[in-house]
Amino acid sequence: MDSLSGSTVVIIGGTSGIGLETARQAHAAEAKLVLTGRNQERLGAASDELGASTALLELGDAAALRRFFAELPVPVDHVLVSGGGPFYSPIAELDFDRALGVLDEHLLGSLRIARECPTRVRPGGSLTFVTGTHARRPGVGLSLAAIAAAALPAITANAAVELAPVRVNAIAAGFVDTPLSARLLGDELDHRREQLRATLPIRRVVGPADVAALARHLMTNTALTGATYDVDGGQQLIMSEKGQHDGP
Ligand SMILES: NC(=O)c1ccc[n+]([C@@H]2O[C@H](COP(=O)([O-])OP(=O)(O)OC[C@H]3O[C@@H](n4cnc5c(N)ncnc54)[C@H](OP(=O)(O)O)[C@@H]3O)[C@@H](O)[C@H]2O)c1
Repeated sequence: MDSLSGSTVVIIGGTSGIGLETARQAHAAEAKLVLTGRNQERLGAASDELGASTALLELGDAAALRRFFAELPVPVDHVLVSGGGPFYSPIAELDFDRALGVLDEHLLGSLRIARECPTRVRPGGSLTFVTGTHARRPGVGLSLAAIAAAALPAITANAAVELAPVRVNAIAAGFVDTPLSARLLGDELDHRREQLRATLPIRRVVGPADVAALARHLMTNTALTGATYDVDGGQQLIMSEKGQHDGP
């Protein structure tokens, strides 16, 4: 098992939630960090806390993504992609231009990042994507999130073959208690937490540190490539109080 000590970890979406928590754990393991986000204030806070290099980066901007990788001090050891928000909309109300942008960002964006890795990531290093478990739980408004979540395992497996010996894996998360979940749920957040505590097989809410622990493992366990790993506290095994499978 590799250690993260002395390695360089790049986290796209490293200023909040899962990405920030992974950065904290990698920092504690003595890794050097390069973190991206879209908000300068959050980048500054992450840099102050973790001594990280930072860069403003919008995932949907293909040219900026190329520039970011071109300017990275190479080789890096690990890349985690934990940004790009979900987009929920019933089909009847779907804004197709926005949908196209979201799919481009999630699907082609993942391939654009994969394309950069062979020349930027050292052999045996890793690329890890973060997605959701939506693909297995159909629901109103979830089509686009489901398409992205269904595609990521295929992108991951194919990239693992093409990028070898760089390893490629994905994390499929259920509800994670992050600022994103707080923004999406608003006043419903506490109720959702209570519901999950009462019903999840693990009897607690999954937090960003739980997902970060898996991300760290995928970086350091050199036997792992090409697979998608669930972290949802058993959420997909249960039904919600509305009679549907639970969603984030
Ligand atoms: N939380 C959940 O329940 C859950 C469940 C399944 C999957 N996920 C997925 O896991 C990933 C991380 O989620 P999170 O809950 O940790 O979210 P979060 O707390 O909002 O953090 C997201 C991070 O990504 C950055 N980011 C967001 N959109 C971006 C974009 N378009 N381009 C570049 N950077 C972007 C944010 O930077 P700024 O703050 O500067 O914008 C921030 O650093 C997301 O892809 C999310 O869809 C989350």
